[in-house]
Amino acid sequence: MCGIIGYAGPREAQEVLLDGLRRLEYRGYDSAGLAIVGSSLKVFKDKGEISKLSSSMPQLRGHLGVGHTRWATCGKPSQQNAHPFLDCTGQMAVVHNGIIENHLALRKKLIDEGHVFTSETDTEVLVHLLEKHYKGDLHAALREALKEVKGTYAVVAIRTDGRELVAARKENPLVIGLGVGENIVASDVTAMLNYTNKALYIMDGETVVLGPSKVTIYDVDGRTVHRDPSIITWTVEDAKKGGFEHYMLKEIFEQPTAIHNSLLESLDELESGTLMIDHDAPSIKLVACGTSYHASMVGKYIIEALAKIPTTVELASEYRYSPGTGEGPLTVLLTQSGETADTLAAAREARRRGCPTLAVTNVVGSTIAREVDRVFYTKAGPEIGVAATKTYTTQLMAMYLLGMRLAQMRRAMGRDEIRELTSELRGMPRYIGKVLDRAHEVEAATDMLVPARDVFFLGRNINYPTMLEGALKLKEISYIHAEGYAAGELKHGPLALLDASTPVVAACVKDHTYEKMLANISEVAARDSPILAIGLEGDADLAAVADSTVSVPKVNPILSPVPLTVMVQLIAYYTARKRGCPIDKPRNLAKSVTVD
Ligand code: F6R
Repeated sequence: MCGIIGYAGPREAQEVLLDGLRRLEYRGYDSAGLAIVGSSLKVFKDKGEISKLSSSMPQLRGHLGVGHTRWATCGKPSQQNAHPFLDCTGQMAVVHNGIIENHLALRKKLIDEGHVFTSETDTEVLVHLLEKHYKGDLHAALREALKEVKGTYAVVAIRTDGRELVAARKENPLVIGLGVGENIVASDVTAMLNYTNKALYIMDGETVVLGPSKVTIYDVDGRTVHRDPSIITWTVEDAKKGGFEHYMLKEIFEQPTAIHNSLLESLDELESGTLMIDHDAPSIKLVACGTSYHASMVGKYIIEALAKIPTTVELASEYRYSPGTGEGPLTVLLTQSGETADTLAAAREARRRGCPTLAVTNVVGSTIAREVDRVFYTKAGPEIGVAATKTYTTQLMAMYLLGMRLAQMRRAMGRDEIRELTSELRGMPRYIGKVLDRAHEVEAATDMLVPARDVFFLGRNINYPTMLEGALKLKEISYIHAEGYAAGELKHGPLALLDASTPVVAACVKDHTYEKMLANISEVAARDSPILAIGLEGDADLAAVADSTVSVPKVNPILSPVPLTVMVQLIAYYTARKRGCPIDKPRNLAKSVTVD
């Protein structure tokens, strides 16, 4: 995700900000910039690497400033879209992390009032709102500006005539570093560890005024808040992982936020009938590789169930070489990186065949966006662990949204049905939170997998692909041979491989395949395979046939792949960890596969 740093103190702000930005690089970014108050307010920002920015920047003198690393979500990576943003008078600068949901309406209103915008971003409305509300007190202006804003933010602002910066937080992290005669504000402690280990964490709804020797925190009602600082004992490397042992675990735990962000504006667009596509399609083809292919398989179930449209799924590496027949289906290309060579080639092939194309990707400005007619961006934020986790569950969100959009267009679902499902989707971050609360139980349950040479993952129906994904996660990070199987296929071959040394992970939720799945698990038990079952809370029948059970909250069966996926991610993670594997960088694998 984007990174923020702000400084007030006796040092040259430029040095502190550039150092902080370098330390925030690990979060992923596509552009960076800083603003410093000296004799005037100066901004330097650009697309690309911080090293490039710092080498092209003149020496700027000044002791107050803000810096930002941007991961594009609204507007492509470019110099104009990089932070900080200035108001029309060039006297105030703002950096922001998060999403301003009502930015289009605010932008229109501000333009009508005479404000001139220079970027495509949602953030820029903030600086114009500050300008509008500024009457000599930047903090008061910030509080007024935020009253007009719907969305999430960590925001920091400075003014050319000020010695203090102001900040606010809602659902995006913000922390103050307390120094001696100097203070820092940042999106995470990595940016400040060089200067101080005393941290004040800012809570949702709070605002801050920060100068070189004073920090004041205000609550929602404007009352000052007293908070004792925490002492940070982490090293920089620990801090980058937010206290988690691996990026993968951190990213697994970021899923409630990633899902929330990916749904935010999209559910409003669904409601207003402007989401993703504007034409109904007679058929759908989903094309992808690896984990994204599994999301596509889940997507097929979702689209067929909700919109009743025939849907096929193809591996991108196969599709591009296939003959291709019939009328052009709406071809949806799923690729978290947007750079996978096979998926890009498939997109070109789909267009050559005359198919309308839609890409689902997590990277704004990635190559796939130039190869298709329409793009839907998931908002998982950067993923550093090689194994895809939060980008997968946000792809699932894209599939639910697409399914509902298609159902809406062809009236396969009524307004009330759509409303009911969207309200369940809005609850998803909470359900995932409950799964994550049980991580220690999952950790204990993985003991049976650790010594295994082979593991089978069984599922049916919409959770068959979930178990393919579980098997892929386990093999890539633990180096255990794992296979995902549709449970009904067991007796057609793989049953011959089962014995006491081959554990089976089985997903069993209460849908129309429940009884069959229980019977399949009993077949496995009869071959002495140790069974780790994933089921719904309180399922005594499942617990009776399994050696160990981990459970997820009861959800609508069509949404069950989301919590079940988090469960298989945790299973793979803890198994690999107990085996001492290099989880974030498995051998032979790369985060984006740009060769075919
Ligand atoms: C596995 C994994 C890969 C990718 C695949 C496609 O954890 O991440 O299987 O899913 O290489 O990548 P994208 O989605 O970037 O096209």
